[in-house]
Amino acid sequence: RDWHRDWSSDVCSSDLLYVIMSENRRILVTSALPYANGSIHLGHLLEHIQTDIWTRFQRLRGNECYSVCADDAHGTPVMLKAQELGITPEEMVARTRAEHHQDLLDFHVEYDNYYVTHSPENKALCEEIYTRLDNAGYISKRTINQLYDPQKEMFLPDRFVKGTCPSCGAEDQNGDSCDVCGATYSPTEVKNPRSVVSGATPVLKESEHFFFDLPKFEDMLKGWIRSGALQEEMANKLQEWFTEGLQQWDISRDAPYFGFEIPGAPNKFFYVWVDAPVGYMASFKNFCDQNNLEFDDFWKADSDAELYHFIGKDITYFHCLFWPAMLEGAGYRKPTGVNIHGFVTVNGAKMSKSRGTFIKGRTYLDHLNPEYLRYYFASKLGDSVTDIDLNFTDFAQKVNSDLVGKVVNIASRCASFITKRFDGKLSDNVLEPELITEFQNAADTIADLFERRRYHQAIREIMTLADKANQFIDTNAPWVTIKDETKQQFTHDVCSLGINMFRLLVIYLKPVLPVLAEKAEGFLNDEFTWSSLETVLTGHAINKFKPMMQRVEMEKVDAMVDDSKENLEPAKPTVNPDSPLGKDPISETISFDDFAKVDLRIARIANAEHVEKADKLLRLELDLGGETKQVFAGIKSAYSPEALIGKHTVMVANLAPRKMRFGMSEGMVLAAGPGGDELYILEPHEGALPGMRVK
Ligand code: MSP
Ligand code: ZN
Repeated sequence: RDWHRDWSSDVCSSDLLYVIMSENRRILVTSALPYANGSIHLGHLLEHIQTDIWTRFQRLRGNECYSVCADDAHGTPVMLKAQELGITPEEMVARTRAEHHQDLLDFHVEYDNYYVTHSPENKALCEEIYTRLDNAGYISKRTINQLYDPQKEMFLPDRFVKGTCPSCGAEDQNGDSCDVCGATYSPTEVKNPRSVVSGATPVLKESEHFFFDLPKFEDMLKGWIRSGALQEEMANKLQEWFTEGLQQWDISRDAPYFGFEIPGAPNKFFYVWVDAPVGYMASFKNFCDQNNLEFDDFWKADSDAELYHFIGKDITYFHCLFWPAMLEGAGYRKPTGVNIHGFVTVNGAKMSKSRGTFIKGRTYLDHLNPEYLRYYFASKLGDSVTDIDLNFTDFAQKVNSDLVGKVVNIASRCASFITKRFDGKLSDNVLEPELITEFQNAADTIADLFERRRYHQAIREIMTLADKANQFIDTNAPWVTIKDETKQQFTHDVCSLGINMFRLLVIYLKPVLPVLAEKAEGFLNDEFTWSSLETVLTGHAINKFKPMMQRVEMEKVDAMVDDSKENLEPAKPTVNPDSPLGKDPISETISFDDFAKVDLRIARIANAEHVEKADKLLRLELDLGGETKQVFAGIKSAYSPEALIGKHTVMVANLAPRKMRFGMSEGMVLAAGPGGDELYILEPHEGALPGMRVK
C-alpha cells in the first residue's frame, strides 16, 4: 500500500513504472468528518469500517488508493461545548481529534491522513474556492432577520431555539420542527421562543448574509446525479429536491463563531458546512505535501483519478447538491461517486442512551474484539441506504459460527497434524485440484461484489466456500486416517489441502479482517495480495498454529451495554405541558461549589411592615437567632404584613447588601411562583430554628 512512497520520483521515469501507473486506477476515498464535540460511536464506525474495507480491498488488488478523513472542528456546537469545558475550541478540537483517531486505529481503520478542518491548508483552500465563486458571480449578499440571544450576544442556529410549535401548540419543541405533529417551520415562527444557550427570550435582529447561487447549477447537478455517481434510489430521491426547487444557500455566520473568517468580510465566518467538505481536500493536500504527491492530479477539473465519498444518508443534501456545485463553480473536479449508507440501529431500535445501546467505540473496545464488529457489519452491508441492525444475539451467533466455527476451525483441524507428523511442511501434492480451482474461480465474483460495496454478498460467497472446505475435511476425517500407517500420504494431502483452502478464504477476507489475515500470514509464512489467489502452497513450511480468534461471550456484550448505561447523565423528565417547568425550564447546571457559596439560613420574621410609596415591597426584620437583618422583599401583592409576622422562612444570608431607595436590603427571602399574587414564601418544617444553615 505504501508503494508510492517506496518508488520515489527518480524511478518514475522507468518504463515499468509507467505501465503500472497507467494500468492501475488512482483512487481517493473519504469518510464523513466526525464532529469534534462528541465521541466516535457505533454509527460512525459503520461508515469508517465500510470505507476501510473498500480501501483495503483496492490496495489488495494493487490499485493506488488513498484515504483521508479529519475531525470537523467548526460551528456553534463545538464553540459552546468548549466554553462549557472552560477551554479554547482549538484545545478541545486537538484533544477530540487525537481521541477519535486512536479510536479508529483501534478498530483497524487506517487513513493515510486523519487531519482536522481547523488547518492552514483548509483555510487557504476555502478562501481560494470562495474567491473563485465570488469572481464568477455566484455569491450575493442580502440582509436577513434572525433570532438573536441578547444575553449571550449571539445569533441562534435553529437547533438552539426552543418554544411552542406554531402548528399544534406543543411546548418545548425544536426551533425548526415539531416532534409532536411533525411540522417544519422557521425559528422566527416559534411561539414563546427561548434560547437554549441562556434561556433568554430571543429577539429578531438584522444581519447581512452571504449566499451561494445553487440554482445556477441545476442542469449540471441533474446530469451529475444521473452519471452513475449515486445509488439509483438516491438519484430518485434527489429528484424531489429539484421538483421543490433549489434555493440560494446561506453560507455566512456572524461572530461569535468558531470557523474561518470570510475574506474581506470582518466578523463574518464561513458556515461550517462550507469548510467541512473542503476539509477533504485539505486533509489530502496535507498528505500530498508530506509524500511527494501531486494534489492537482486528483482535484483538477479534468482529473482522471477517481474520487469517492462515503457518507450517511442524513448528509446527502450537502454532498450531492452544495458540494458538487461548489467544486464545479470553483473549477475543480466533481466526485466520481457518493456512496450513501443507512443508519445503525441496535436490537431493532434507534440507538438509545437509556437502553445502553448508544455505544461508544471506546466502550465496545473495552469489552470486545474490533474484528467481530468489522465482520458483522460487512456481513450486513450492501449498496443500499437501508438501515443496518446490530442485533447482539445475531452478532454473537454469526461471529462464532462463521469465523470461529468455520474459517479458523479449518486451520486448527489441519495444522497440528502437519506440525506433529509431517515436519511442519505442506504436501507436494494437490489432492483435489478442482476444489482449489473452485475457490480460485470465485475471485472475480467476490472482487466485483467488494467493488460494488455488496459486502454482504461477498461474505456469503466466502462462507459458502468455507462450508465446502469443512465438508471436505469432515468427509476425509484426517483424525481417523492419521492412525492408519498406510494412509499417511493421504492424511498429509488432506490436511495440506485444508490449509490451502483456509489460506484462500483468508485472502478474500483480508480487507475485512486485517488482523486475522496478519496472523494467518505469520502462520503460513506468506504475504497475501489478490494475486496470491493464483498460487497453491506446496512443499511449503508453515508455523505452529496458535489460536486466532476467541468466541464472542454474551457476558461481555452485556457488560458493554451496562457500561454504556453508566456513561449517561440522568434522562431529563418529559415536561407535562401544564407544569410550570414548561414555561420556566431548569437552568444550566452549576457545580456543587457554586451552590455551596450560597449561605441559606432559617430566619424568623420578627417584624413586617408596609413601605411608604413602594407598591411591591414589604420591609422585613429577620431574626437569625443572634443577628437581625433588614430585607426589602417584593411580596406585597401576595402577603399582608400581619400574615407574615412570626413565620419562619429561608433567606440568602450572604448576599451582598444592596442600597435601595428606602434603605439597605441585607439579603433575600425565598419564595416560589410566577409573581403577582401567585407567590409563596418557603417555610421550614417545625423544629428548624432561626440561624440554622440550609444545606
Ligand atoms: N461533520 C459532519 C460531516 C461533515 S463531512 C464534510 C457530520 N458529522 S457526524 O459526526 O454527525 O456524522 C459523521 C458521519 O457519521 C455521517 O456520515 C453520519 O451519517 C454518520 N452517522 C452518524 N450516526 C450514524 C448512525 N447511527 N448510523 C450510521 N451512520 C451514522 O455529519
Ligand atoms: Zn406541532
